[in-house]
Amino acid sequence: MDIVGVLAVAFWAMLPAYVPNNAAVLLGGGPPIDGGRTWNGKRILGDGKTWLGTASGIAAGAVLALLLNAVHPAVSGAVAGLPRFSLVAAITLPTGALLGDIAASFLKRRTGRERGAAFPGIDQLDFVVGALGLTVLFAPEWFAGTFTLPILAVVLVITPVLHVGTNLVAYKLSLKSEPW
Ligand code: CTP
Ligand code: MG
Repeated sequence: MDIVGVLAVAFWAMLPAYVPNNAAVLLGGGPPIDGGRTWNGKRILGDGKTWLGTASGIAAGAVLALLLNAVHPAVSGAVAGLPRFSLVAAITLPTGALLGDIAASFLKRRTGRERGAAFPGIDQLDFVVGALGLTVLFAPEWFAGTFTLPILAVVLVITPVLHVGTNLVAYKLSLKSEPW
């Protein structure tokens, strides 16, 4: 597979993990997951992690995976090697992405960072680790067949770039209050 093919497969395979956060920004709000509770004087997760954002983010990622499966026959002629999502992967990719994001907020609050504070490195990769981790646990065969070493390497490079780029756009469009 040439580099363009590897890029296309990596992007396609990660799309269901990329959209949940953006969907949560657009559709989130309402009661926070931690219910306002604190631990050692600091919020457990903070107001930025809501039930609605989490549920709509997972739904958006899963629906997107099924949509990609639906258009797969039409696209796979042009780009070889694009994966089809198993039902389990369609759920673990977005769920893991948001669990990683929630875990990062937990760490941010423990280290004294307020809601919205930047945590360089963690902000850009928390959801990749969560999405890939949950998927390798629950869909190990699908994972092994999809995320070969070259694909994994490309995912680790393009994800932070895409994350910084989309958040900057969301900030410029006033959808997000910080550019990260
Ligand atoms: N969001 C949500 N539920 C989630 C994740 C995100 O409702 N599980 C929404 C919130 O409105 C949040 C916005 O998306 O403010 C941006 O997400 P993110 O940057 O992850 O949250 P922050 O507000 O920056 O909070 P934190 O410092 O905890 O990351
Ligand atoms: Mg943030």
